Amino acid sequence: MGFKNQIERRRTFGIISHPDAGKTTLTEKLLLFGGAIQEAGAVKNNKIKKSATSDFMEIERQRGISVATSVLAFIYKDKKINILDTPGHKDFAEDTYRTLTAVDSVIVVVDVAKGVEEQTIKLVEVCRMRNIPMIVFINKLDREGKDAFDLLDDLEQKLGLSVTPLSFPIGMGYDFKGIYNIYEKNINLFSGDSKKNIEDTIAFDDINNPELDTIIGETAAQDLRDNLELVHGVYAPFNKDSYLNGEQQPVFFGSALNNFGVRELLDCFIEIAPSPRPKMAEERLVKPDEKELTGFVFKIHANMDPKHRDRLAFIKIVSGTFERNKPYLHVRQGKNLKFSSPNAFFAEKKEIVDISFPGDIVGLHDTGNFKIGDTLTEGEPLHYKGIPSFSPEHFRYINNADPMKSKQLGKGIDQLMDEGVAQLFTLEMNGRKVIGTVGALQFEVIQYRLEHEYGAKCSYENFPVHKACWVDPQDEKNEEFKEFKRVKQKFLAKDKQGQLVFLADSQFSLQMTQQKYPTVKLYFTSEFK
Ligand code: G4P
Repeated sequence: MGFKNQIERRRTFGIISHPDAGKTTLTEKLLLFGGAIQEAGAVKNNKIKKSATSDFMEIERQRGISVATSVLAFIYKDKKINILDTPGHKDFAEDTYRTLTAVDSVIVVVDVAKGVEEQTIKLVEVCRMRNIPMIVFINKLDREGKDAFDLLDDLEQKLGLSVTPLSFPIGMGYDFKGIYNIYEKNINLFSGDSKKNIEDTIAFDDINNPELDTIIGETAAQDLRDNLELVHGVYAPFNKDSYLNGEQQPVFFGSALNNFGVRELLDCFIEIAPSPRPKMAEERLVKPDEKELTGFVFKIHANMDPKHRDRLAFIKIVSGTFERNKPYLHVRQGKNLKFSSPNAFFAEKKEIVDISFPGDIVGLHDTGNFKIGDTLTEGEPLHYKGIPSFSPEHFRYINNADPMKSKQLGKGIDQLMDEGVAQLFTLEMNGRKVIGTVGALQFEVIQYRLEHEYGAKCSYENFPVHKACWVDPQDEKNEEFKEFKRVKQKFLAKDKQGQLVFLADSQFSLQMTQQKYPTVKLYFTSEFK
């Protein structure tokens, strides 16, 4: 198969949702369709359960499992599907944001009874900022839930989407009869009390055909006709270009657990979802079909075995092919590296591969060369944009609890930050180090890993920060900026990239600062240029 065909057949995407909406179940059903797994339950343990909030050892265990399921790949109707796993646990939200830099599209799963939830809002916002094409799957239709139109309204109002339903449920919960597929113009009916099987797929080009009444009953048929009329009246017809530009989001209804509507979703997905797209580097736009390899690290996974400190760096291939044993330029370090055992990922296992294509993810064994955002090329000094840091939610001073091990501590902190476990800020005033995390859980994870992987001990001390704001340094010579730096000295720090950060201790002080120094620009993400 030619290079261009290889690119065209790839679909690299992520599934995002609020925990418990059904992401894991849907992933599993997609894998079953792809023949990649044989039974349900196979990817379940990938999930960090809610109960794990107080049990970080469990998280460590699951972290090991999730290496294998970080990328789930399979072939469906000759398309190579790469699903990038995103942790549902909110303490790992930053991992998810980073993974979203490596996807070409996403499927958003929403629970029919709960509607749009907090994590959905945050994740969809990140996708919207990047114009990532999104398909919404409203799940758990076998249960009573919100009215379909209310849900569509919710998606528009709370998520700011412009939706267009491509399927529509016939009944819901107990009365659920099936799904009308607007995209394919047919009806899937489900049978039995458990409604586990698709009984029949009937083509219905014209839903006014009286046969519909015989099949689903007069009331349901009339409801469906009314609903579809409303759909056509209210929502713009599906437009593939609008979807690809992130301006319109098709919606499907179904039940992942019972397999309703999943095939329809997958069949439509492979047809409309984008193959690998061009990506903007700081220097230029890079197209997937360029001959030379370019790719970037979006995730680093530490080895579970503390005796071997090697890690797996996940590279998304943007252009060209990645070949085993070929030297590539590690742009940040300015040195050539060769990889004798690059891993490719399949359903639940990883294997050494000789060649990978744009859209694919390769896992490279790394002894500390990589950090998130690093670029590999065949010599061109390219830097990929788009892996910003967001303000952490929790901040603490980190202290060395074993003075004999300060070197180990420094190295450990350095490497854990490169992995993206947390963010490090060094205070301008006294050089003290502050760790910022998305969830309180990471502090325990860091302490545990420093001790077990680096033989270092740390302790924490509270540091009350409301938000970290990145400061635009372009005003460096401005008097107001100088005064801001002098007055706020106590609250200024450098992040790991050396960018200036203002650590506001309260919402009030943040507002006051913004009012007092209007020309000093503060940003809530590190990528504001
Ligand atoms: P997540 O990855 O988004 O966190 O969700 P997950 O798939 O684990 O699903 C959360 C719960 O919702 C699971 O139940 C799962 O079985 C259930 N679920 C998923 N899809 C459907 C659906 O279409 N209909 C119904 N009724 N339930 C669904 P659980 O009891 O929390 O877990 P488990 O014991 O089944 O593993």
